[in-house]
Amino acid sequence: MSKSDLNPARHQPVQARPAVARQLRDVSVVVPTYHEAVNLPHLIQRLEALRTEQQLDLELILVDDDSRDGTEELVAALALDWVQLIIRRRHRGLSAAVLRGLQRARKTVCVVMDADLSHPPEAIPGMLDLLEAGQEFVIGSRYVSGASTDENWGLFRWLNSKVATLLAWPFTRVRDPMAGFFAFRRAALAGADHLNPVGYKIGLELIVKCGFTRIAELPIHFADRQLGQSKLSLKQQFRYIQHLRRLLIYKYPQQSFSLHFLGVAFVGLLVNLVALTTLSLLSVPWSWAVAVAVSLALGHDFVPHRRLTFSHAKTGRLSRQLAYYIMASLPVALLNVALTVWLLHHWVLGPVQLAACAGALAVLPLHYLICRYVVFPPLYLHLKPRVRMAGQTLEPAPIHPHSPTP
Ligand code: GDD
Ligand code: MN
Repeated sequence: MSKSDLNPARHQPVQARPAVARQLRDVSVVVPTYHEAVNLPHLIQRLEALRTEQQLDLELILVDDDSRDGTEELVAALALDWVQLIIRRRHRGLSAAVLRGLQRARKTVCVVMDADLSHPPEAIPGMLDLLEAGQEFVIGSRYVSGASTDENWGLFRWLNSKVATLLAWPFTRVRDPMAGFFAFRRAALAGADHLNPVGYKIGLELIVKCGFTRIAELPIHFADRQLGQSKLSLKQQFRYIQHLRRLLIYKYPQQSFSLHFLGVAFVGLLVNLVALTTLSLLSVPWSWAVAVAVSLALGHDFVPHRRLTFSHAKTGRLSRQLAYYIMASLPVALLNVALTVWLLHHWVLGPVQLAACAGALAVLPLHYLICRYVVFPPLYLHLKPRVRMAGQTLEPAPIHPHSPTP
């Protein structure tokens, strides 16, 4: 992209109707900013043109995380009554900043977009048209026909975006769920009272938690930022995995227990196999080798089961859970060892590792039931409401350790 891309002339309204034909005209545009003072004059200029040309009642809510780069002075100097700036001095984070802005929004429609001009404000009228036509959530999309991105997207960035999109498949099949440019009616927020995103993907969070089904994707040209720097770090990529895990628990609570359990048990089985192989190489008698390997595997599983599989219980008493786990795992371990050794004696063809896999697999359902209902019982279950849009609360609500499942 050249500097001329900062010029609105290149960004004609996409698929928008004439302004007079539109009923939906009042819009709150929420823009999270961190070190974007250099881009803001261009963004404000383009939004101002849009207000006039498209006769929009548009307010701009900038949510800055204390950048101290002149953003505050710039907004004060412009003194535009349709632009407001919220400065969050104690927190940082894109998604939380967006939520803060959405709480301040007062118009019928909310639009969220970046400050770096990657997202063309000129697409907003087209988004309004789609909302007016009955869509619930409109994405300014990079991956539908007619959309484009700047040429200099390296293979890594492209692949990264594609893999992230694929991982969001259990939640939505839209082509660009990662987009930070989207619009929806503000009233929809009233139904979303457990918004709890980590990282960058606030759009995906809203799709899942507001339960949007009529989702449209409006093609945009996604321009690479010209001024300032991207804040998307490797840390944010890890946060995305954390976010996906939270969404999985939210949307598929029952299945998420089993999926997590299987994942942890799989790693436990690897521990078992490595130990077994090592001990057999050291000529330790089979029955002893199997017993040690099984104990190590079950021992390994405790912490990840507590922290991940049954994370609702991680604030429970550790000593009690550990005691229950050891007692309850004892019959499971004995059964596993007995079965593995029996298979080794009667299953002449199989290598020791195969017998160990069969033994572990056979006791898996029993171990799952014991962990779920005895060691980490559902008594602990609760949801943590971080941000309740309807109640206008930002801080986490106090949580009673034994509150019933909502
Ligand atoms: N308030 C606040 N706090 N704003 C932030 C923070 C933060 O901690 N981090 C980033 N922002 C703002 C930036 O100032 C910018 O306006 C917007 O959030 C996006 O940040 P970029 O640093 O430009 O991110 P990006 O271009 O790598 O990511 C964008 O594209 C992704 C898809 O490729 C974002 O739109 C993502 O949401 C999107 O997934
Ligand atoms: Mn950007």
